[in-house]
Amino acid sequence: MNIAAGAPPESIRDSVRIMTLQAHMLEAQAQFPQATGTFSWILSALSISAKIIADKVRRARLENVLGSVGTENVQGEVQQKLDVLANDVLMRALGGREGVAIVASEENEEPVILRDDGPGVHRYCVLFDPLDGSSNLDVCGGVGTIFSILSHDGRGRDSLLQAGSHQVAAGYVLYGSSTVLVLTIGRGVDMFVLDPSIGAFMRVETGLRIPAGNKSYSVNEGNRKSFPEGYRRYLDWAQSNGYSSRYAGAMVADVHRILLKGGVFLYPPTAKAPEGKLRLMYEANPMAMIMEQAGGKTLAAPRRRVLEIQPTAIHQRTPVILGAAEEVDRVCAHLSG
Ligand code: AHG
Ligand code: MN
Ligand code: MN
Repeated sequence: MNIAAGAPPESIRDSVRIMTLQAHMLEAQAQFPQATGTFSWILSALSISAKIIADKVRRARLENVLGSVGTENVQGEVQQKLDVLANDVLMRALGGREGVAIVASEENEEPVILRDDGPGVHRYCVLFDPLDGSSNLDVCGGVGTIFSILSHDGRGRDSLLQAGSHQVAAGYVLYGSSTVLVLTIGRGVDMFVLDPSIGAFMRVETGLRIPAGNKSYSVNEGNRKSFPEGYRRYLDWAQSNGYSSRYAGAMVADVHRILLKGGVFLYPPTAKAPEGKLRLMYEANPMAMIMEQAGGKTLAAPRRRVLEIQPTAIHQRTPVILGAAEEVDRVCAHLSG
């Protein structure tokens, strides 16, 4: 083949270039001459954890690791065997990274302080929900991992109590019909798919934007009777206006659909969970950063951005209204009306 000088040939244009997650991070890092690579090492720990967890999820039935372990986590929820396994994988992978000061997991009552050397050494805090939607496992439904990365600000474990707007990066992995990793490092949202034959996450999309106009809502309507009035008004309005309902019961699966197709996801306050069910630090904040970076919105209530909530406890919960900006506004119009 004769490659003439001038415009790059089709095969090396940006849109078709073969790019792994690792190469993506090296490329991002090259734009910051002062970067030491610490952050990329942390992402590589998350990526290897995702590959191990994906494998465990796929083999769960074969290896008899479905079902609960018979204990409850700090939230009083039944722990599945795979919740514990996934937590352990993330703890071990992140524990080996020098750049990690503290890890906090939905499954552990207390955060783990790995390195505490005060101000001067720049490290990160990593917070995660190791397996989201784990009750879907027994029925082969989608499950995920959600993570949030904060800079350690030298205040020991209080470094974790930063508003979500301070997140340096956030992402999730969906173990669905394929394994998908969605990541933001504060410059848009990129998507990678695990190619199991070569063991690498391949970049398939950059700069994802939530599409507008999808008439779809995602909520556990079984709780409808205990939703605040405004949510019921919105649902009545949506049902009278040709909306579809889609609910997987795993936040990662529901949010992924909304990121790609549009619509709105709701987890309102209920009688059983007056602050909502979802956890601010492990679920709402990372998803909110992704939504905003993709042009969407995430609110806890009208005019209350999730990312502006000042946390007071690492396991606290928040109501969530998340999705395409115009649909979130529409829900809020019903809440305030
Ligand atoms: P987890 O499995 O990490 O405890 O999270 C489950 C969460 C979330 O994934 C989902 O959106 C929500 O619980 C579903 O709750 P309901 O069963 O109350 O609808
Ligand atoms: Mn979860
Ligand atoms: Mn979980």
